Amino acid sequence: MAATPAELSKALAELLEAAGKDRPGLGLVPTMGALHQGHAALAQAARAENDVVVASIFVNPLQFDDPEDLARYPRTLEADLDLLGAAGVDLVFAPTEETLYPGGLPLVRVSSGSLGTRFEGASRPGHFDGVLTVVAKLLHCAQPPVPAAYRAYFGQKDAQQVALIRRMAADLNFPVQIRPVPIVRAADGLAESSRNVFLSPEDRRNALVLSTALRQLRDRAAAGRPLDLPAALELIREQDGVELDYLQVVDPLTLDPVPAGPEDTLTGPALALAAARVGGIRLIDNMELPV
Ligand code: PAF
Repeated sequence: MAATPAELSKALAELLEAAGKDRPGLGLVPTMGALHQGHAALAQAARAENDVVVASIFVNPLQFDDPEDLARYPRTLEADLDLLGAAGVDLVFAPTEETLYPGGLPLVRVSSGSLGTRFEGASRPGHFDGVLTVVAKLLHCAQPPVPAAYRAYFGQKDAQQVALIRRMAADLNFPVQIRPVPIVRAADGLAESSRNVFLSPEDRRNALVLSTALRQLRDRAAAGRPLDLPAALELIREQDGVELDYLQVVDPLTLDPVPAGPEDTLTGPALALAAARVGGIRLIDNMELPV
């Protein structure tokens, strides 16, 4: 395990040299720990495409707008290391706040612009600036110290985060390929999330309305029928114990709304995004809608 950027760079150099190739593949899986099957899928995707896989575990204070949320974020290092080991990760980078932010929290940060103030950003001011700032740092820290194909893996469940990280990498010329990995769902359909452990059995049953509404939109799109977003909204609003924040059909890259009324059929790629509070826990989910 590496705890400082210098230790990480040294260990990566050794692992990449040991791969014995001119241009080995290096996969980075950034996480905040509290790992679940969704993270295992990220690590497995990285394992399948690269010679060396490194995962980072760092609960990033910059992306929490609520100190209580930061304090109660689950910290499960031993179990996380087991899961990463089983998924074939070669190296874990687990910095502390002092080793990642040695001069204190950074004065200069990455701005997520207008894409970062909508949807999740609307209810969590500064969240995406904090995400992009730490992702920029992690991408730099794990930058291959020898020539290598560099890839980084992010879960599609955080669709807005993925859109922003892709945009940052393109806008600021990061020499890394951003690889989104599909959502992993539990058998009941709930998208895997570190926050699911806080749901009571009843909350969990109520929460399923989110994936049900998204599936309704996806099935209509697949059948070439009008999306009828208002009907899907109604389904969620009628569910006890669920406080809807948003359900919207958007362009997957810009997150601009796509017409989705009772008469509208899709004409291009689209993503349905949803967020709600269930038993006080904020959940997000999304589904790609086929054209
Ligand atoms: O998705 C997450 O777990 C975090 O937002 C990330 C990308 C590791 C940055 O802290």
